[in-house]
Amino acid sequence: MAKDTLTLTDNRTGKTYEVPIKDGTIRAMDLRQIKLHDNDFGLMAYDPAFTNTASTTSRITFIDGDKGILRYRGYPIEQLAEESHYLETAYLLIHGELPTRPPLHEFTHNITMHTLVHENIREFIDSFRYDAHPMGILVSTVAALATFYPDATNVGDPDSRRLQMHRLIAKIPTLAAYAYRHRRGLPYVYPDNDLAYSGNFLSMMFKMTEVKYRPNPVVQKALDVLFILHADHEQNCSANAMRSVGSSRVDPYSATAAACAALFGPLHGGANEQCVRMLQEIGSVAAIPSYLQRVKAGAVRLMGFGHRIYKNYDPRAKVIKKLAYEVFDAVGKNPLIDVAVELEKIALEDSYFVERKLYPNVDFYSGIIYQAMGLPMDMFPVLFAIGRMSGWLAQWEEMLVDSEQRIARPRQVYLGSGERSYVHLSERG
Ligand code: CMC
Repeated sequence: MAKDTLTLTDNRTGKTYEVPIKDGTIRAMDLRQIKLHDNDFGLMAYDPAFTNTASTTSRITFIDGDKGILRYRGYPIEQLAEESHYLETAYLLIHGELPTRPPLHEFTHNITMHTLVHENIREFIDSFRYDAHPMGILVSTVAALATFYPDATNVGDPDSRRLQMHRLIAKIPTLAAYAYRHRRGLPYVYPDNDLAYSGNFLSMMFKMTEVKYRPNPVVQKALDVLFILHADHEQNCSANAMRSVGSSRVDPYSATAAACAALFGPLHGGANEQCVRMLQEIGSVAAIPSYLQRVKAGAVRLMGFGHRIYKNYDPRAKVIKKLAYEVFDAVGKNPLIDVAVELEKIALEDSYFVERKLYPNVDFYSGIIYQAMGLPMDMFPVLFAIGRMSGWLAQWEEMLVDSEQRIARPRQVYLGSGERSYVHLSERG
């Protein structure tokens, strides 16, 4: 009769063990009973980079990487991109349900009322070098926010947690825009709370001397969709950083700074910037085959391609590819799209990419849109961070209220030297 268990035989000892299987997993701790002798520590699972280790249960985001499916709280990403708007999606991620009108109104009001940052933060940004990368500024200023909200250390209090969540979602566009204006040597633009979330961000970025900035509605909508598409992606590198750092019960500003730092890397949120740099380097459709030869020889990676989870087309890339043409109709075409489309076509017919199941990911087309919107490349990961904020917070709170979670502390397999005695510098050969 079928049983939800796994039987393991340790060939070192000949002993057999039966461990339960639940939700497609075995408990790593169930391996610990497998010992050579009584003083043996017990068997562990070795999994560098967590390629086959579930570190949590979650009810936030579902991905089927083989089928190319992404859902937030059960809702397909394509439907949310088409029908929802960013703050509604943020509410969904955090609360688990789509809001009715009154809670959505209240949530939107709470976010809108927290968009300003303390003037000291503005001065803090002023002190960065004129050419500081905006993501570096973001990492530091998000961390600095912790010093303004000492109440945020109260992570066990649901009301305090909610307040910090509102503050973080509200302030991250302000910090992002200030980082950009600092680099451009432009005066900072204070939030305009009459505008929608993404419209206000565009105003803080691009407003010059006009009394009222009126965002291009197509650009505003496209940016909102991009924020939705980036809002969560289950246990990715930065969400893992958010959970892991947050598991020490540090305040959410410090945990978010860690998540932003993780996102900054070129293999994560920095890939959109690297992808546009790559498309610029390729330069023309004619140069694609020789570039792909370099990729296949292992000299470079095809940025915006491949994914740890997706072994099929990333559903976000499909939405973004379509969105690109809508933005081009409104603001003019980015010529890099022709290189990108042809590159995708050739790569998807090439056995190197087919065999390794490498498809365009979210970063392949997003940078091209951002560039068409007039956003500089080093702002791309910052834009990713704005969208991802709600997902990080949903993941953080889920971790905090999960009674099974404790401080994250992986094990290691020690392969270093055995005990040896210290040798004074003068006696070392
Ligand atoms: N170009 C060329 N070869 C690749 C690429 C790529 N972009 N991605 C993977 N491969 C090859 C890799 O060389 C390896 O080949 P082999 O088996 O011959 O050694 C095989 O495919 C498996 O790659 P991997 O590095 O083991 O896969 P991974 O799951 O560890 O890495 C990844 C996933 C996203 C880091 C990787 O695909 C990559 O570096 N892509 C380019 C960077 C990028 O676009 N990142 C954005 C990811 S999506 C947004 C986000 O989550 O931030």
